[in-house]
Amino acid sequence: MQKLARQQNRKGSKIGFVPTMGYLHAGHVSLVHEARKRVGKNGFVVVSIYVNPTQFGPNEDLSRYPRDLKRDLTMCRAAGVNVVFTPSDPEMYPGKQENRHCTYVSEECLSRGMEGSSRPTHFRGVTTVVAKLFNLVLPDVAVFGQKDFQQAAVIRRMVRDLNFPIRIVVAPTHREPDGLAMSSRNKYLNPEERAQAVILFHALQAASAGVRKKAVPASQMLKDLSAFITVAPLARLDYIEFFDPETLTPVDKVKPGTQMALAVFFGKTRLIDNARL
Ligand code: PAF
Repeated sequence: MQKLARQQNRKGSKIGFVPTMGYLHAGHVSLVHEARKRVGKNGFVVVSIYVNPTQFGPNEDLSRYPRDLKRDLTMCRAAGVNVVFTPSDPEMYPGKQENRHCTYVSEECLSRGMEGSSRPTHFRGVTTVVAKLFNLVLPDVAVFGQKDFQQAAVIRRMVRDLNFPIRIVVAPTHREPDGLAMSSRNKYLNPEERAQAVILFHALQAASAGVRKKAVPASQMLKDLSAFITVAPLARLDYIEFFDPETLTPVDKVKPGTQMALAVFFGKTRLIDNARL
């Protein structure tokens, strides 16, 4: 992969990169189009497909994470991807089980709350694998989805702090017609859960509407939205946070421009979404 990337560099082609864990959907395709837009028609667009074990907690869905490489490759071809990079576990984390990997990259400011609280080892796995992928793919531009808002912020910060010469682009969340944010994990939902999963989007809309006229104390908004979510009986709220979109620090007053993020369980499936209110 590095050899190929260097060849493209020498030819003067820009490399656009979309890291994924596969089981692609229209949201990923929109990231590929964004990458193509950034590098131009003579640029080189790389998609990686790698279900990264280090970003899953011990009781999470690593073993059942959905995979369909054949379908992913067809989608990548149709979207005009130049190379799909599909490293294996031993290639990414060589060595014996007990000393599989000794070097980690961890961002220690923006990865603390929200996903970082609910999934304590998650971001260390993400920043480690993304740093490795950046060193393998040598991109000029890398595109991430806004659905994983905190992930994008953490990666931007890592790139800045470690001087990766890479432009990070964050592309808007792609939604199903009813508003549910597209995610590979939506596949886990049974029909009843799927119907109720739109509550995440409705909660974001309700919060936006609620602050249109006046600022609302975060504690009040949290109470109202927690009650709102019980309208979906299968939903179990993990967290709702209101914060500054740049620093990710929680705010006391929710107003237009505040970022809201939430995580909700449906059975074992955990969904996230966020919006600028
Ligand atoms: O967003 C994802 O799919 C993953 O966290 C990423 C960025 C591909 C790293 O494994």
